[in-house]
Amino acid sequence: MRELADYRSEFPILAETTYLVNHSLGAMPRKAAERLAEFSRMWAERGIRSWAEGWWETPWRVGDQIGRIVGAPPGSTVMHQNVAIAEAVVLSCFRPFDPGRNRVVYERENFPSVRYLYQAQPELEVVVCEEPGEIAARIDERTLLVPISHVLYKAGEIQDVEPIVRRAYEVGAHVVLDCYQSAGIVPLDVTALGVDFAVGGSVKWLCGGPGNGWLYVRPDLSETLTPTYTGWQAHARPFAFEEEMEYASGAARFLTGTPNVPAHYAGTAGYDLIEEIGVERIRESSLRQTQLVIDLADAAGFEIVSPRDPARRGGTVTIRVPEFPAVHAELEARGILCDFRPDAGIRLGPHFFSTDDELRFAVEQIGDILETGAHARHIGAVALH
Ligand SMILES: Cc1ncc(COP(=O)(O)O)c(C=O)c1O
Repeated sequence: MRELADYRSEFPILAETTYLVNHSLGAMPRKAAERLAEFSRMWAERGIRSWAEGWWETPWRVGDQIGRIVGAPPGSTVMHQNVAIAEAVVLSCFRPFDPGRNRVVYERENFPSVRYLYQAQPELEVVVCEEPGEIAARIDERTLLVPISHVLYKAGEIQDVEPIVRRAYEVGAHVVLDCYQSAGIVPLDVTALGVDFAVGGSVKWLCGGPGNGWLYVRPDLSETLTPTYTGWQAHARPFAFEEEMEYASGAARFLTGTPNVPAHYAGTAGYDLIEEIGVERIRESSLRQTQLVIDLADAAGFEIVSPRDPARRGGTVTIRVPEFPAVHAELEARGILCDFRPDAGIRLGPHFFSTDDELRFAVEQIGDILETGAHARHIGAVALH
């Protein structure tokens, strides 16, 4: 078994920066470039034959690999461009909406892509819970969907999903679990959780880059659903070009049009590493390192916004210090890549390849910046990303 430190050479950016922004854009594995080169080679040399030689099947072949990481059985997970599209496909299964069951219940801290999609549907009534703990109590017979986050993106807090799933099941509502901030860093088993749908992407802890969203549909449910947001890849016989739709079985019925093949080629480099190491081992390292960040921040007198309880803590520690957007900009100028979210603070997200020394360096530099006022030059001139 390789030591975690041995994986550092797989990530070129670690040689140049202190990379603590894996909750936003996970470091690129070196092999992603090789996979993209293979995609290019096929396009150049194999041309049209590439579809039959692997391109067409990437949404479910790569989806099965994600499935292995999140506890989904083969054939239940497919790739989409992003979470917004995956959730739109889920939503489309319930059109036309029953006016007696048109409520959507979620927490205020839900990610904007998800919030905006449901808010934009005039036939739906959105119930926003101030606290995640309220969600189960707000679900009733009028609830259609409960699109919630497994780990909240701002504070990095793990939600207790079981009571929500139980309540939804009792009243016939469906849970859509957004696992973007947990897949690859917090052990997750969508089958054991019993969720109806799970969605996520690969930009973050899976180190799979953009364009690699995914959708899991509970196998016993999938055949009963008819997505109205669809396309020819969801057809049972797409290359027959039939006039009428006949849905494929399994998760393939939730696909749309031509797949994002280059993204799928790039993504597997990260998934291979996550599978090789295993999420349990990654979690062990993450819990130890996030605790180290909390201890260092406590010693420096910084406010911690993330949960202190390890059972509730995702992969990110959010630290609130005065003028944190400007402090973040100065950290970036010093080669420490992290980010911040409004109303939250600076987010530090170490991954399995991060070292304790990098964490000590980052927290020490925050202290130095505040003490010397080096961030003053960035005040009023900060960009979010
Ligand atoms: C919890 C969560 N959901 C979804 C997204 C992204 O949504 P989309 O794939 O639609 O860009 C993010 C971050 O980018 C996130 O943190």
